[in-house]
Amino acid sequence: MDQRAVRAASFEHGVAAYQAARPTYPDEVVRWCVPHDARDVLDLAAGTGKLTSRLVAFGYDVVAVEPSDAMRAELERTVPDADARPGTAEATGLPDACVDAVTVAQAWHWFDARAASAEVARVLRPGGRVAVVWNVRDARTDWVARWTEIVHTGDPLDTSAHEPDLGPAFTPSEHRETSWSSRMRTGDLRVLAASRSHLLTLPDDERDALLDRVDDLVAHHPDLRGRDEVDVPYVTRAWRATLR
Ligand SMILES: C[S@@+](CC[C@H](N)C(=O)[O-])C[C@H]1O[C@@H](n2cnc3c(N)ncnc32)[C@H](O)[C@@H]1O
Repeated sequence: MDQRAVRAASFEHGVAAYQAARPTYPDEVVRWCVPHDARDVLDLAAGTGKLTSRLVAFGYDVVAVEPSDAMRAELERTVPDADARPGTAEATGLPDACVDAVTVAQAWHWFDARAASAEVARVLRPGGRVAVVWNVRDARTDWVARWTEIVHTGDPLDTSAHEPDLGPAFTPSEHRETSWSSRMRTGDLRVLAASRSHLLTLPDDERDALLDRVDDLVAHHPDLRGRDEVDVPYVTRAWRATLR
């Protein structure tokens, strides 16, 4: 497997950290991504169900496709009302024209974009909506910039949020950025780092060295030291497009 494939598969070994520390998605983003009159929604690369649970809460009938058995098992436990299935973005295993909307959160960078776009177009009903979303930490806050520098140390891959190339089957995409924050325990900034694919695939000693630097940041940064909790600032970057 190449490095990107190894990294994409690494979440199988990081379920507990992922579920404990990764953020949810704001309601206003869910509203923007999915048409209010949609009924059937596919959450693609659903992971442990961070976005899936919000879609279920909105009342949609949600199919959650996720290739990692361990991530999907956690989703089945925490979001039992979703229909969780094994599959990939390139081959969902779903029938043609079966959903009104497809959501992809924090995952488009792992896909073969051309194959995934074709598969999303295939499973959407005519006029259906696709939305691609990333929660990005807002590095205008100093400690966030320093944390980000630590967790990217030695990372050769670009996994950043970007406009998805959906191809000619879709209308040009619209973009929205939503600023918000997620309160977490400062001790969990280590867990948040450990949930990242870069750290999940590092040798133990190199991973531990980065995690120790996170602990050091929490112990000494003036905005973190002595605090039990902190608001982590996020910008949710979202793109949406309609099947022509
Ligand atoms: C960072 S997690 C995002 C999970 C969830 N969407 C969320 O927002 O929390 C990325 C997920 O993409 C999945 N994944 C990786 N490659 C994939 C592919 N080719 N097709 C579908 N899912 C994939 C991983 O197993 C992992 O669960």
